[in-house]
Amino acid sequence: VIPFLVASVLPSISAPMIIPAPAKMIVSGGAFRMSDSTTISAPARLLPLANRLRDLIGPTTGFKLPPSPSGTIALRLNSRNTLGREGYRLTVTPGGVEIAANSEVGIFYGIQTLLQLLPTEVYSPKRVSRVQWDIPCVNIEDAPRFAWRGSHMDVGRHFMPKEFIFKHLDTMAMHKLNVFHWHLTEDQGWRIEILKYPRLTDVGAWRNGPNGRYGGYYSQSDVREIVKYAADRFITIVPEIEMPGHCQAAIAAYPELGNSGDRLDVGVDWGVYSNVFNVKDSTITFLQNVLDEVIGLFPGKFIHIGGDEVPKTQWADSAFAQAKIRKLGLKNEQELQSWFIKQMASFISSRGRRLVGWDEILEGGLAEGAVVMSWRGVDGGIAAAKAGHDVVMAPTEFTYFDYYQSEDWSKEPKAIGGFVPLHKVYQFEPVPKELLPEEAKRILGAQGQLWSEYISTPEQMEYMGYPRLCALSEVLWSPREERSYEDFVVRLRAHLKRLDYLKVNYRPMDGGKS
Ligand code: ACM
Repeated sequence: VIPFLVASVLPSISAPMIIPAPAKMIVSGGAFRMSDSTTISAPARLLPLANRLRDLIGPTTGFKLPPSPSGTIALRLNSRNTLGREGYRLTVTPGGVEIAANSEVGIFYGIQTLLQLLPTEVYSPKRVSRVQWDIPCVNIEDAPRFAWRGSHMDVGRHFMPKEFIFKHLDTMAMHKLNVFHWHLTEDQGWRIEILKYPRLTDVGAWRNGPNGRYGGYYSQSDVREIVKYAADRFITIVPEIEMPGHCQAAIAAYPELGNSGDRLDVGVDWGVYSNVFNVKDSTITFLQNVLDEVIGLFPGKFIHIGGDEVPKTQWADSAFAQAKIRKLGLKNEQELQSWFIKQMASFISSRGRRLVGWDEILEGGLAEGAVVMSWRGVDGGIAAAKAGHDVVMAPTEFTYFDYYQSEDWSKEPKAIGGFVPLHKVYQFEPVPKELLPEEAKRILGAQGQLWSEYISTPEQMEYMGYPRLCALSEVLWSPREERSYEDFVVRLRAHLKRLDYLKVNYRPMDGGKS
């Protein structure tokens, strides 16, 4: 095949290559051709989104897209449609485009789909003049399968600059992902400013490793900016403050939070540390004060308190912890962890929010209303759903994007281990077959994990995140029965050109780089 010849006979209207695939799409032939005379109409409530669409398409196409009462691109609020809060209907005829939805978020997703119906070049940051801006005639009715379509990012092990968080949120929105789980504290770094406890970042955000002093943190004004940026893209941020383990940076800042009272350094090596918070009332109050500021910064419903990988050795050796166990009438250290989490759960619910924790929070009993994030496989999620808890699936086998993308590790940049290739992600089914239909409703969705022990730069974060997040977006958005990996891969090849324009450093389909 001579690529040049093939390209020259291709019709200018190509088959839609949309990721995640819409729930229903009928392609009817023909196209709407955008031009200088294309206009946009929108009711007052949708004017900000009309402006966003103009800003997205205008500079690249060179079209002004002025407002008009009967625009050739019409955005409409349509309370009669049955597509739910996030759904939309997108209709393209030779005469124009209509996006209708019940709310702003549906219109926003309709706009994301519209961009993917246009020639790939629409994602170019620069003016493109050699393209016919044709939009194939389609009838799309679309709505997500799951409410929680998440991307997790650990900024504790390695700090990621604010500008990169913005870029990541943009790429998420393009894939209709709507939850950014921001893992903000770790043994190796505390990354969020807490006004009441300045040493958390003065001390806890910095470590002295083999390459010198390393660190960084987000000021509260950075956090407000990021929360706003996410909200503008209909993304909820779930902040995570780790407790009672993975907290050595906090103990380094305030030794009175630890069990030994010893001065500790902010962690440098990777792994699970034995240093955990003590169970004194003053520590519970300290952490509730931290959560109080966190709740003030993040308007979303969910507050994540970690709860994973908590060695019980220090509590077993601590006279204070043992006396607490007796005083509370508890059986053991597992129940003490459960008590600890319940202190946070009741505080968080008193503020009208819901606690989320990794599946270890099930051990020793779980507070009502808490959400379980199932990472050690799906069994924790199954148990939680059967016990009446909401669940977010995050199993290592399918969603740990810090794992290798090739079986041959020597062909890849150093990663933590494992093997989670693209097709494996695509195969993932978030609702385990063990669940009855009523229990299955407890599965809110799933998310991809980007733990950063071996991810030290934004480029590497993107390399690990994409295209696996493209596959996950389809698992979470598109109807299960419509999913086809072969079809996904065809669409993905076109989609990666969009990511090229956006300078997303995804892993190439045909292999890694070292
Ligand atoms: C985890 O990977 N420790 C949740």
